[in-house]
Amino acid sequence: MAPRPSVLGQNAAMAERATPLDTRALHALPPAAALPAGPLADRLRRPLRDLRISVTDRCNFRCSYCMPKEVFGQRHAFLPHAALLSFEEIARTARQFLALGVHKLRLTGGEPLLRKDLERLVGMLAALRTTGGVPPEITLTTNGSLLARKAQALRDAGLRRVTVSLDALDDAVFRRMNDVDFPVAEVLRGIDAARTAGLGPIKVNMVVKRGTNDHEVLPMAEHFRGSGCVLRFIEFMDVGATNRWRMDEVLPSAELLERLQRVHPLEPLAAAAPGETAQRWRWRDGGGEIGLISSVTRPFCRDCNRARLSTEGRLYLCLFATAGYDLRALLRGGADDDTLARTIGAIWQQRDDRYSELREAGGAAPAGGEQRVEMHYIGG
Ligand code: GTP
Ligand code: 5AD
Ligand code: SF4
Ligand code: SF4
Repeated sequence: MAPRPSVLGQNAAMAERATPLDTRALHALPPAAALPAGPLADRLRRPLRDLRISVTDRCNFRCSYCMPKEVFGQRHAFLPHAALLSFEEIARTARQFLALGVHKLRLTGGEPLLRKDLERLVGMLAALRTTGGVPPEITLTTNGSLLARKAQALRDAGLRRVTVSLDALDDAVFRRMNDVDFPVAEVLRGIDAARTAGLGPIKVNMVVKRGTNDHEVLPMAEHFRGSGCVLRFIEFMDVGATNRWRMDEVLPSAELLERLQRVHPLEPLAAAAPGETAQRWRWRDGGGEIGLISSVTRPFCRDCNRARLSTEGRLYLCLFATAGYDLRALLRGGADDDTLARTIGAIWQQRDDRYSELREAGGAAPAGGEQRVEMHYIGG
């Protein structure tokens, strides 16, 4: 499919660099099909369980592995407000996903807490029901910068849990990694506020880059041992098209585990849910649990049950997708709920994405001219 013409690349230098915003391609929407009587499954027999909703493409951080400053600088044009799905549109779309078997809704960004009145959306989602008649589990992935201010209101609105991204405890390293000189103390304050508000068990995500913050692995592990927070180490991924990913900057989880084991012994835990991203481990001395998210060295596509709704209402079936499905066109084109649900069902039924597995097998490069969508646009 031909890339969509640029509506966003506003300056020549950026256009030359061909940012992914200029090449967000679209798949044609399939006709609404009859839904199966039993559970919905994709071509690899994976159910649809988890919907990740990006509520803004903006972020107040510039982590080099996600939104490098040289690409997402002052003159970068983010989506205009009218392009974003409204809360009503998000809730209506989420309702169709719940009817198709989704249990968990995760709000992401960009930085989701930059979206004004996010607690109103949380309240609207909390009022929805799964096919089992219970409220969906509503979670949020945030960089923590605004969490101290917002944790209680989010909890009151119905948010169940939060995952906070934190790449270092050392203030200088953290400020360098977020690249906007943001102090680590404020994120730690956000984590405390989330705990106080009852948004636990809190997960803390650390993206590990060899040579940049791998010396922070042990201090982070010590800090969160016994805290009740689950620290998860994420291998630096080749997501998007701008983060200059290199294999030699990936710290394989096996090596990371060895480093941890040398200090405190760990033992494996069974997965808590099918399709989980993290392999779970427990400190033998009772210090709690950690997770290893090893998308590069140990892909977990086989059970991947996640769909992603972009800020402007496109449905993506994989974190590494090059094109999405324009659900906003349906929403704003007058489609009724039944058509919306059956179209989403038809999209899921034809899904065969398994990027990380293919990468491991050496065959995952996008076709000529295609660019992978950026993570801050479809959510982590
Ligand atoms: P919970 O277990 O409910 O907390 O959800 P989760 O494991 O999906 O957590 P989270 O959203 O924090 O995801 C953790 C990180 O794993 C993300 O930030 C991504 O870096 C990575 N990740 C999540 N989903 C996928 C996926 O489908 N594919 C790949 N390759 N990586 C993923
Ligand atoms: N590799 C691994 N994780 C990433 N994230 C963003 N970009 C990358 C990448 N290139 C993670 C962040 C955050 C979540 C939103 O996505 O750490 O936890
Ligand atoms: Fe922002 Fe999260 Fe991306 Fe960092 S990883 S730039 S905090 S969206
Ligand atoms: Fe799912 Fe794609 Fe990640 Fe594989 S690479 S786990 S299919 S999102």
